[in-house]
Amino acid sequence: MDVLADLTSLRERCRNWRAQGLTLALVPTMGYLHAGHLSLFDHARTLADRLVVSVFVNPTQFGPNEDLDRYPRDLERDTRLAAEHGVDLLFTPEAGAMYHPDHATWVEVPELAQGLCGASRPVHFRGVCTVVTKLFGLVRPDVAVFGQKDWQQLAIIRRMVRDLDLGVEIVGRPIYREADGLAMSSRNVYLTADERAQAPAIHGGLLRVQAALKAGEADAAKLALIFRAHLAEKLPGARVDYAEFVHPDSLGPVARLGAPTLLAVAVFLGKVRLIDNMLLEV
Ligand code: PAJ
Repeated sequence: MDVLADLTSLRERCRNWRAQGLTLALVPTMGYLHAGHLSLFDHARTLADRLVVSVFVNPTQFGPNEDLDRYPRDLERDTRLAAEHGVDLLFTPEAGAMYHPDHATWVEVPELAQGLCGASRPVHFRGVCTVVTKLFGLVRPDVAVFGQKDWQQLAIIRRMVRDLDLGVEIVGRPIYREADGLAMSSRNVYLTADERAQAPAIHGGLLRVQAALKAGEADAAKLALIFRAHLAEKLPGARVDYAEFVHPDSLGPVARLGAPTLLAVAVFLGKVRLIDNMLLEV
């Protein structure tokens, strides 16, 4: 496995591979790799001849009061895990190399970025779209793999690629969970032991809603109350940032579930904000 931090070297290596007729898969990450990331690598490995993974804590997707400075990092461990999971090229740029001091170009999909996480993180998806576009331009992958854990991010990237004809196939992969149901996240390390023990209640709430839907309740407002009541009971210290039913592609609100609908939630446990979601089949 090659480890490159330099943009020109990355571009060169990928260009050489393409010139040899090899196809490229890209999995962008912010590192501190966990089994969810590795499940993306394992799948991406099967989709193309060469697998490129980026580890870059992208500053432009963090708001001024967010956790950029304390975002967990362990490049040594990430490098070992990437090598063990068939990554051919690990790209680990410095922020100064990725962004010119007078960087002035942004990629946005405002219509899909207003609600859900975008409501409390106004610059987040602009930063994500911009860095992903840059990575696509550097690597020029045939296929890029993203997790459904960040469903809104995936929907936005799909729309961006379609609207801008970026010519990259976008593949979404299921949420990888701990044995107790908690969605894996680099941010789970922020949780105290007590919070960690209670956090599976978020997934429990999603399952509770799924069961209520199966039992015949199709009213989104009532289903949202079921989620909130579950959390109030099992996770009394938590604050629900949002629990919304939306169309899986347009992310527009759904009042009554008559077609597959996404239930997306964000919950504050102390200072830690965790997201989760479930596609509800009707
Ligand atoms: P990061 O949070 O590191 O996630 C990298 C990729 O791993 C994303 O596609 C995310 O959806 C996926 N992922 C995270 N947890 C997962 C889980 N439990 N199961 C399955 N997939 C999971 O998302 C980002 O980084 C950044 O916004 C990025 C796209 C790299 C742009 O900076």
